[in-house]
Amino acid sequence: MPVGLEAISVYIPRYYLDTEDLARANGTDPLKYKVGIGVQQFSAPAPHEDSVTMAHEAALALIRNYGVDPDDIGMLIVGSETGVDAAKPIAAYVHGLLGLPSNCRTFDTKHACYSATAALKFARAWCGGASRGRKALVIASDIARYEIGSPGEPTQGAGAVALLVSDQPGLLIFDEFPEAFYTKEVMDFWRPHYRATALVQGELSIESYLTTLESTFLAYCGNSGLKWDDFDCMLFHVPFPKMASKAYKRLCEMEAGDGAGRSVDELLRQFDVRTRPYLTANSRTGNLYSGSLYLSLADLLETEGVRAIGRRVGLFSYGSGCCGEYFSGVVGPEAEACRGKIGLERALADRVALSHHDYLRFRKAAEEMACNDSFYQNLSCRKGHCPSCSAFLGIEDNRRLYCVPNQTETCLRLLQTPRTGRPYIVAAR
Ligand code: COA
Repeated sequence: MPVGLEAISVYIPRYYLDTEDLARANGTDPLKYKVGIGVQQFSAPAPHEDSVTMAHEAALALIRNYGVDPDDIGMLIVGSETGVDAAKPIAAYVHGLLGLPSNCRTFDTKHACYSATAALKFARAWCGGASRGRKALVIASDIARYEIGSPGEPTQGAGAVALLVSDQPGLLIFDEFPEAFYTKEVMDFWRPHYRATALVQGELSIESYLTTLESTFLAYCGNSGLKWDDFDCMLFHVPFPKMASKAYKRLCEMEAGDGAGRSVDELLRQFDVRTRPYLTANSRTGNLYSGSLYLSLADLLETEGVRAIGRRVGLFSYGSGCCGEYFSGVVGPEAEACRGKIGLERALADRVALSHHDYLRFRKAAEEMACNDSFYQNLSCRKGHCPSCSAFLGIEDNRRLYCVPNQTETCLRLLQTPRTGRPYIVAAR
């Protein structure tokens, strides 16, 4: 039975910082960020946004835009490396905010940026067997934050991608070849529980990424019998767009060294058709961590529509630490119909540029909101930032409070705080 993606939706925060402004503030040549790393802008989440609200927004858009019956969703998995609680999964919050049925399995997966792929693989196996026709909702949701002034800062970003996996894969039918993954314990990127920002050994992470790519691509081609020319598009995990060109180049070197008769330069020219066009969104949002590969896929489906139908897409997922996997799929017949439902182009068009000063202010406010009793202490953080989407309101008695303006009942229930019983919807709006 074919299994794959039936629907895909994207949530991108409303605010962004242009890397030219960051470069000016950091005393760096803007070309380093824009050309050397390939990041034009990056999403700067507002203080009321976290991995829960972004996951909820992406999933809500998917359910509404594709007309999904929530009762058909039998599994909800969130892949993230920026969870909000050491025990309670993002998936549990999102399940509540969406009002999904109780006969739905929920959990999070974690392995840095590989987490959503782990979730996808689990969902795929379930949909191919025990799901009895029900669907799995997989959401990648992350906020990538590095220390201010650090080399990683221009590669930050935020956003969420929701994927509906089922046995009616109108968008992407997964190829059924033996799987190709690779794991090696390595300290290339990590974030201890006590830190809000990630630590990275940049060069090591790049080398580890490329080693994982080599190993999984070789294994995948060996297992499947697929050859270089069988891939029409090649998508990669995108911590920053230049990384995808490094990855593509490494594959070209492997292919050219294989005695197939083509030079690296000749193969490199295909980058402009196979990969580059689908890095546009990544270059404007920065790193989505677990969602960055799937943002590229959303970009491909939205950009190409009907032209993509029947094309084979190679996908490389990498998570620091590290684990990676190569897999592929063929674009299905619904690619044209889904174009207006993905929401990527619209989200990018509706954004507002922040000044560097406001970007710093947002970061500070987000830090304050992450502390206990921030619900009372930092009311100013929320003013003007709770428009039409779900919002994180702060923490009260060690409980995170969220509101969903369009679902009045849930909203009022969540806003009836145990301490005061006062609805905070008025202040939030
Ligand atoms: N104009 C154009 N390009 C410039 C430039 C300029 N003025 N100055 C530097 N560059 C280029 C460099 O040549 C280099 O290109 P190359 O990689 O093709 O050689 C690139 O910009 C980056 O320069 P570099 O000196 O290596 O930058 P850095 O030490 O500040 O670190 C990263 C860059 C990517 C390593 C750093 O941003 C990082 O650690 N990011 C996070 C990595 C990550 O996400 N890892 C997880 C992997 S999944």
